[in-house]
Parts: sequence; structure tokens; C-alpha cells
Amino acid sequence: MSEMKRYPVDPEFAAKAHIDNAKYLAMYEQSIKDPDAFWGEHGKRLDWFGPYSRVKHTSFDPHNVDIRWFEDGTLNAAYNCLDRHLEQRGDQVAIIWEGDDPSESEKISYRDLHERVCRLANALKAEGVEKGDVVTLYMPMIPEAAVAMLACARLGAVHSVVFGGFSPEALANRIEGAASRLVITSDYSRRGGKVVPLKANVDEALADPAAARYCKKVVVVKRTDDELAWHDHRDLWYHEITVKASIECPAEELNAEDPLFILYTSGSTGKPKGLEHTTGGYLVYASMTHEYVFDYREGDIYWCTADVGWVTGHSYIVYGPLANGATTLMFEGVPSYPDNSRFGRVIEKHRVNQFYTAPTAIRALMQQGEEVLGDADLSSLRLLGSVGEPINPEAWEWYHRVVGQGRCPIVDTWWQTETGGIMITPLPGATATKPGSATRPFFGVQPALVDKQGNELEGAVEGNLVIKDSWPGQSRSIWGDHERFVQTYFSTFKGYYTTGDGARRDEEGYYWITGRVDDVLNVSGHRMGTAEIESALVAHPAVAEAAVVGYPHSVKGQGIYVYVTLQAGFEQSDELMKALRHWVRREIGPIASPDLIQFAPGMPKTRSGKIMRRILRKIAEDDFSSLGDTSTLADPSVVDDLIAKRLNRW
Ligand code: PRX
Repeated sequence: MSEMKRYPVDPEFAAKAHIDNAKYLAMYEQSIKDPDAFWGEHGKRLDWFGPYSRVKHTSFDPHNVDIRWFEDGTLNAAYNCLDRHLEQRGDQVAIIWEGDDPSESEKISYRDLHERVCRLANALKAEGVEKGDVVTLYMPMIPEAAVAMLACARLGAVHSVVFGGFSPEALANRIEGAASRLVITSDYSRRGGKVVPLKANVDEALADPAAARYCKKVVVVKRTDDELAWHDHRDLWYHEITVKASIECPAEELNAEDPLFILYTSGSTGKPKGLEHTTGGYLVYASMTHEYVFDYREGDIYWCTADVGWVTGHSYIVYGPLANGATTLMFEGVPSYPDNSRFGRVIEKHRVNQFYTAPTAIRALMQQGEEVLGDADLSSLRLLGSVGEPINPEAWEWYHRVVGQGRCPIVDTWWQTETGGIMITPLPGATATKPGSATRPFFGVQPALVDKQGNELEGAVEGNLVIKDSWPGQSRSIWGDHERFVQTYFSTFKGYYTTGDGARRDEEGYYWITGRVDDVLNVSGHRMGTAEIESALVAHPAVAEAAVVGYPHSVKGQGIYVYVTLQAGFEQSDELMKALRHWVRREIGPIASPDLIQFAPGMPKTRSGKIMRRILRKIAEDDFSSLGDTSTLADPSVVDDLIAKRLNRW
């Protein structure tokens, strides 16, 4: 069985690596036994304006969830990502930008990036942005996205990046939810040769009075020469406001616990929540994990293929690498444009050393065959990473053999928007890997498995994955709703942080993430709440009831399977199916587009009216041999009908 395969650490790699196994074990032990001493020491990797005297001040007690790290220290994240590098590496490339069109690329030095950030920070200041204000970024993968994040950080403004694939409706909700007063966007974004009208989406979002009430200015980066609707009282060209701004802008002295950003993510209930990350602990954790997990060394070219709209882009394209003075590659395009060899071409062109991507991209390439990367020279690669969803052993092996040429260790990194940085992962010089396992915890992370009652399980066992104590990168709250934060993460299993994931631990203590245990889907590494998609569907006039579940999908990991009961007077048809799909795309965004829609005259419900999702999940998985007891259903016959008309057949 491939699960049993084990790849030992290459001794040559270990000899040069930051951390070998002996060092891992010793450091891990210290990090758990004496977190104050451990993090007190490692906090020094940043430049502090005012030193901290207290390190860890945290409580997971549901009556008093309180998480603070380095709480009396002062610093600035942009200063740590830029200014402190200028003397030593001002001319070194900070960002390599690779455009959607392979003929477009740009190299930006630390000095140049610093200048751009200062200009924008001054321009934002002139527009009235102050410390503590929320600025929404709705941007393509262009250098200005990183510039905008850092400009906010420089001022102490809080950025809220909204993924460019979200709909105007989703954007409006996030602008309103964060009471954001300014949006930075681009006229259009380019991906895979197509253009997406980002600014027009912002206009549509701001047609919603709830969003327009807060947001008074829109700064627009010019990416194309295409025509654009313009509102003089509100819209500003990025190039016009920055060209006249000064390149001197002192970095605001912020408290370690001042917010750095909020990032919306989906949960099992309600609207997406804005997770809040603060400055000191987050940056210590992002930079330290970046250095050790990717074994980042001076001069390396590092590429993470995520979008800045997700937490991976925050921690491992922008903050972690730049705090470490690294060269980070930012890619505007997609793996399949102009053709499927693009990833290989970019690795070859920029001599990439570390490559960090998602299983969904790996599986998509894998489907194209072993020759997919063409004759691209991949000899620069030293390490591969995976993130966002469980990687199946077949995809792991393929990644190792075809992309890593059997030579590069793979780090399968498990973490979440809430955790700020990587939590469970191999360290390439220390950890023997097993395809499909995220292996062992990073320093300071104490994972545990608990049963439904919250009892901690010992040994080789499967259970709910929880974390026993705080780590510096942890989210501090949900923006504007601390009670929801406590309820979501600290009330199910008292005394622990609840991850929402299930996991198995093997005899060696390695963790194998099995996926979400709640109603959250992971589609192509994008996290989505079934409740969100359901509420979008029931807002359609034809829909009486909707239930959404996930099913295994060979490329996306999970696909979206929708059951819909129509209102009286509506007939099922292909047109209606198309219309519903379009409706969800419009309400949430293309990433939420249902893969399969089954019209269901009735849902399997208990006598008290609760939809039995377990049954719907099984039918969607095409596994209806073990439906369990259906006799308690209000109308057991609906199940036969659902099975007969099921859409996912092997
Ligand atoms: O279910 C886990 C899955 O992605 C979820 C977190 O999603 P998000 O907050 O969007 O962050 C994604 C990038 C960090 C987790 O609860 N997940 C993430 N990484 C892995 C994973 N599942 C298995 N293995 C991973 N390496």
C-alpha cells in the first residue's frame, strides 16, 4: 500500500539544512516546556522599536478566551519586511513578478518596493486613511497587491483582502462587515488570457447602500487600456495619486497586538467571518515557519503559487518571505496558460528553488501525463510544498517523481486561515515523509485528538484534531464578534482550539489529516460553507429548499453536489439548472459553482424536520449501501427516489 511508503531524509540535505532531526526534537521539547523562553528568543528574529518584556499571555478558557503575544513590544510589519533590509540587500530582488502573458515579467528590488510602499502609504494618508481603518483590497496578482498590503501595514491600517474571484455581492458583504472606508482594486485582472472586470465589480458592490455607506473612495490600478466607467467623486487612479506622493513615510510604531489584517473565511454556519491577525506574533510565526519549513537560505528563489486573496498568499508570498529578506515570486496566471507546461517554464525561467502549490493543481497536471511540463529544466528545484487540502498518495508520488525528479523533499503543510502559519509539517532536513501525511507539529504546536465528548485519545487513533495551547500566529478574534470566535473555536471541546478537521495519528506519532468534520467544503483548496451556498440557492425564486454536500472529485478534491426542491409551479429543466448555476456564481463567485444539481421532490428529513445530511452525503458519494437506519425519516420513500436519480455514478 502506498500509504506505508516512507521516504527517509537525505543525509546530504540534512547536513546543510537549518534543522536536522536531533535539533527538531530538542527545539520542539523546549518550545513546549518553556514557551516563554523559546518564543522570547525567536521573537528576536524581528526588529522591534520597543522591546517586549512579556512573551505569552494566553487563555483558551471559554469564559475568557484571551490571546496575546509579545504584548508590550512595539514594531511595524512593513518596516520588518522592507526598511531593515535596505542597508544589506537594497538592490536584491524582493519580488519577481511573472505576468499571465509569459512575455511580461518584472523584478522589483527591496529599495524599489520600499519606495512604492512609501508612496502609496502617503497617498492613502492624504485620502484620510489612519491607523485602525480597514482598507479592502480586491486585486489581481500584481505587485501592487503586495505594495497595498504593506502600505496599510506601514500606516497601521488593517487590510482586508477579498479574493478577486468573489462576486460583487460577496465583496459588498465584506466591505460592510468590516466597515471598510476605502477599496483598492484594478481596472481588470488577467488570468489565463481572459480579463475579469474587477473595477466594474466594485462599482456593482458599491451600488449596495450598505457597502457604500462606509466606502467612500476607490483606488484603481491600471492594468489594461480597456474602457472603464468612472465616478469622479469616488474613484482615483493609483498612478496619479502615487506619482505625486513623497517616497519618505515613517513606519508607524504599533503595538504587537495591533491588528495587521482581517481575512474572511467560510465556516459551517452563517456568513463568512473576518479572522483577525495581529502584528507581532503573526510576523514572528510567518517568518520562522517560512525559513524552517522551506529551508529558505540566502539567495534562494522561492515561489508560492497561491493567490494573495487567501491566507497562504498573505503568510507565504508576502509577509513570511519578505520579513526574511527573501526573493518571492508572484504569478498572475494559471498553470494551464498558454499551455500546461507553464509551471515548468516559470521554474526554469526564474531558477526557482522552492515551489509551493496545492494538490488540486498537482492533480490537474497529473491528468495530462508525465510529459506535461515539457522539456523545462527543473534542476534548480530543491524542495516542494503542498497546502490547502489533503494530498492523496498518488498525487504525492507523482509530484515527487515528475516535478521533484525524485530528488526534492516534499513538505505537506497543514494549517488554516485561523492559524496564521503552518502547524503540522515535515521539516525537510529532519522528518522522514510518508505520502499523504502532514507528519509532525511545528515548534510550539501541540496537536491532540479528541473523541466526540472531548476526551483526549492516546496512541495510534483517529479523532477530532484540536490544539492544546496557543502559538504566536494564532488568530485573535473574529472582527467585531469575539463571542462568535469563542463559540466557533473554543466551546465544542473545552480548553482546546477546535480545528474543524479530523485526523489520524499513526504509531510513529505522524498526523494524517482526513478532512473537515463540519459542513465546510474544500473545493480545489478553496474553503466554502455549505450553508452559504444553500442560502444563495434558496434566494432564487424557483427554489423552495436546497441542501449542499461534498463528493470526492478527482481533480478538485471535493465537488459541490446540490439537491434542490422547487417551489410549486416550477418545472425542472436544463435551463433552470443552468440558471441556478449562474445564480450561485453571481451570488458568491465562480469557485462556488455547483458541479452537480439534482432536482429532488423531497429531502430526507427527520420527523422534526431536520434534513439528514448524512444520507445526502452518502448518495452524492454513490455509496448508498450503508445508509444506516432510514426508518426514522418522516418519509423514507424519498430516499429511493434520490438514489434512483443520483448524478454521481462510478
Ligand atoms: O481542512 C483543512 C484544509 O484546509 C482547511 C483550511 O482552509 P483555509 O483556512 O482556507 O486555509 C488553507 C491554507 C492553509 C483546513 O481546515 N487543509 C489545509 N492544508 C491541508 C489541509 N488538509 C489536509 N492537508 C493539508 N496540508
